[in-house]
Amino acid sequence: MNRIYLDHAATSPLRPEVREAMLPWLDSGNASSQHAEGRAARQAIDIARERVSRAMGFEFAETLFTSGGTEAANLAIIGFALGYEGPRRRILLGASEHHCVLETAPMLRRLGFSVELIPVDREGRPEFVDLTDAALVSVMHANNETGAINDAAAWAERVHAAGAAYHADCVQTFGKLPIPSAVDIATVSAHKLGGPKGVGAIGFRAGIKLKPLVTGGGQEREVRGGTENTANIAGFGAVPFDFVNPKLHLDLPGGVPTVTSDRLPGIFHVRFPGVQAESLLIRLDREGISASAGAACSSGSLEASHVLLAAGYSEAEAREGVRFSTGWNSTAEEVDRAGRLVSDVVAEIQSRRK
Ligand SMILES: Cc1ncc(COP(=O)(O)O)c(C=O)c1O
Repeated sequence: MNRIYLDHAATSPLRPEVREAMLPWLDSGNASSQHAEGRAARQAIDIARERVSRAMGFEFAETLFTSGGTEAANLAIIGFALGYEGPRRRILLGASEHHCVLETAPMLRRLGFSVELIPVDREGRPEFVDLTDAALVSVMHANNETGAINDAAAWAERVHAAGAAYHADCVQTFGKLPIPSAVDIATVSAHKLGGPKGVGAIGFRAGIKLKPLVTGGGQEREVRGGTENTANIAGFGAVPFDFVNPKLHLDLPGGVPTVTSDRLPGIFHVRFPGVQAESLLIRLDREGISASAGAACSSGSLEASHVLLAAGYSEAEAREGVRFSTGWNSTAEEVDRAGRLVSDVVAEIQSRRK
């Protein structure tokens, strides 16, 4: 029996058309060179930039390629702070943001900003707070663990009313939900959509000033130095951005879904009270199902999810969250089969504990 891959929110398998688009550019010219090989690479990058920027809802000239969603978010936040010349000192980050956003905090503090975490509700969704004197606010478009969608347009409105700039980490929504036009800085990644790993993009509106974190060479409008990865960028440009994710709902006896309102159709996050995610995931892996806890795994043991902790769950509960996520090659049949297998495995774990 084939394995069932339900971890697209971590990464999606490479799409065949993306692989095809990458192959000619694995051995490309340097896009900064003036000769034929360089001009060909430049043209491939420009075609990809045209497609990615259109899918993001940004102008061609407002869209730069990076090494992925992590670098793009770092550039959005730290690059903004480095380029900021105004008097404001507050930067607010959602408490349930991805680590690539949260871990900019020490650097921001060194740059003289005060960093505040925006409290989140039980579904991991940041609550509106007072934004007076904020310079920048970062609230993701949808949470990568729980799948909770944030109203990015409403956030943009609030942030702008306070006179601040708004960054939305759109890694999980890109290609699935439109990025609201009021978002000032949006960051995305290719590999959650069947594109290659190691390439992402940042869109930033005219008037937003970002200082480079990687300097030298002057590439990407002098905001992101380094010879462009032509193959990865061409692959990113070949992702079909308009596919429809199969809706994921697993009817799991005893399972408590974390998000009941407004969630990404492809992410289903659930807890089985009393069952540790780690043991469940190991058993599921043996049964041929790939899922995850959504939280980072270090030193071989699963840490309590910072998202669930921020959402007010206890340490023990924050170790119970399991995330199933579908993507471009998931099928309804797989989802049904996974539902039955997960129910059986949970029942077995629970019966052993009695
Ligand atoms: C919400 C979110 N932001 C950022 C990232 C980081 O993207 P990348 O893996 O391309 O660095 C991820 C992926 O793990 C994510 O889910």
